[in-house]
Amino acid sequence: MLIAGNWKMYKGPSEALAFCRAFVPPEGVEIVVCPPFSALREAMATGLTVFAQNVHWEREGAFTGEVSAEMLLELGVAGSIVGHSERRRYFGETDETTARRAKRALDAGLAVVACVGELEEERERGETPAVLHRQVSVLPRHERLVVAYEPVWAIGTGKTATPEIAQQAHGLIKTILDAPVLYGGSVKPENAEELLVQRDVDGALVGGASLDIDSFTAICETAARLSRS
Ligand code: 13P
Repeated sequence: MLIAGNWKMYKGPSEALAFCRAFVPPEGVEIVVCPPFSALREAMATGLTVFAQNVHWEREGAFTGEVSAEMLLELGVAGSIVGHSERRRYFGETDETTARRAKRALDAGLAVVACVGELEEERERGETPAVLHRQVSVLPRHERLVVAYEPVWAIGTGKTATPEIAQQAHGLIKTILDAPVLYGGSVKPENAEELLVQRDVDGALVGGASLDIDSFTAICETAARLSRS
């Protein structure tokens, strides 16, 4: 079981350091925090496993605003998120760029959490299986690849996928690619258990609730308890 906290564009170095120092990770569950680039070093200094939120597909070059896998590895970062729906929506990320980022990062030695998930209108039109197929089939096969199913209509909206919807999507993803699949989208202490007990839910990618130490700890403790049982 893996619980990853995606902090998005929240917490600068001092806030990240304070959070990571105060956070006590429960035993028996893998925990990752994903701070903004500017706070990676501080988060890592506390001994937690740290992933970036994005990584470029070239080692270096004229790519203003981007950071390479080698640069993250030099810092000691263990992995990166790629293809988050916010990157796809606001920064023109596509299935192709997501796959390129994932492949390069994995080849360089990072772990990767590759995000997929349908829009609300795609779900309403019954296109979820086709969308997931398109997004997942381009991802590289690799032992350090983890997929995160994040239905876009459930991100930051308070609308969580029902456990049945999550299980169905995760099951489908696993028929396309054999990798652990995290669920993301309004995961909170109150709904973590019903999602995490689903057969094909291997953990969670937590946004808003990972910013607060009590709610993130509660979700991690639920995952640890379920892993032990
Ligand atoms: P929320 O948990 O805030 O809905 O965000 C989910 C997410 O985007 C994690 O990557």
